[in-house]
Amino acid sequence: MISLVFATNNPNKQQEVQAKVGEAFKILSLADINCTHDIAETGVTLDENASIKSRYIFDNYQISCFGDDTGLEIEALDNQPGVYSARYGGTRDSEKNIDVVLQKMEGINNRNARFRTVISLILNQQEHIFEGIVNGTIRLQRSGTGGFGYDAIFEPNGYNITFAEMPLEEKNKISHRGLAIQKLIAFLQQL
Ligand code: IMP
Repeated sequence: MISLVFATNNPNKQQEVQAKVGEAFKILSLADINCTHDIAETGVTLDENASIKSRYIFDNYQISCFGDDTGLEIEALDNQPGVYSARYGGTRDSEKNIDVVLQKMEGINNRNARFRTVISLILNQQEHIFEGIVNGTIRLQRSGTGGFGYDAIFEPNGYNITFAEMPLEEKNKISHRGLAIQKLIAFLQQL
């Protein structure tokens, strides 16, 4: 069995990958390796931040690992909030973040947006990058109570509901993170 550290403190993310990857791999979290360091996301792109996380773990623990970063990219806002998605409203408060997006999008007809996830895997000292994208539009107002982050204002293309109105299993199948994880797993399974 190959152990891989997922540079995250989010148990849901860890479980999602573990459930999909099967028994050939053991997915460990930062807590599992007693890493309490808050890895600063100082990059200006999603790729940079994903790499910062995987490199930190590899350099300090010499173990194969991967890190991810996600952003909401809105066409009419020059792909903002992008790498700044988590704190677009100044703090980690999702409701404030949504308020800022809705305010900036007032009167704008082009509502096109996408979620993008980048995963940086370091395996046998080599870095591999995987990307997942889901295209959609920004609603005029919130709809739905599920999910997190910007889910209540993001309607994926081909649906007339937001991510916040979608069962989690269905979201995971079509989402940016789900797609990036599928690519990561396809890669791991052909090793
Ligand atoms: P992270 O890189 O997964 O921590 O994501 C950064 C930020 O992007 C989060 O704090 C959320 O604001 C937003 N985000 C990431 N994934 C999603 C999602 O699936 N739905 C809604 N917002 C998300």
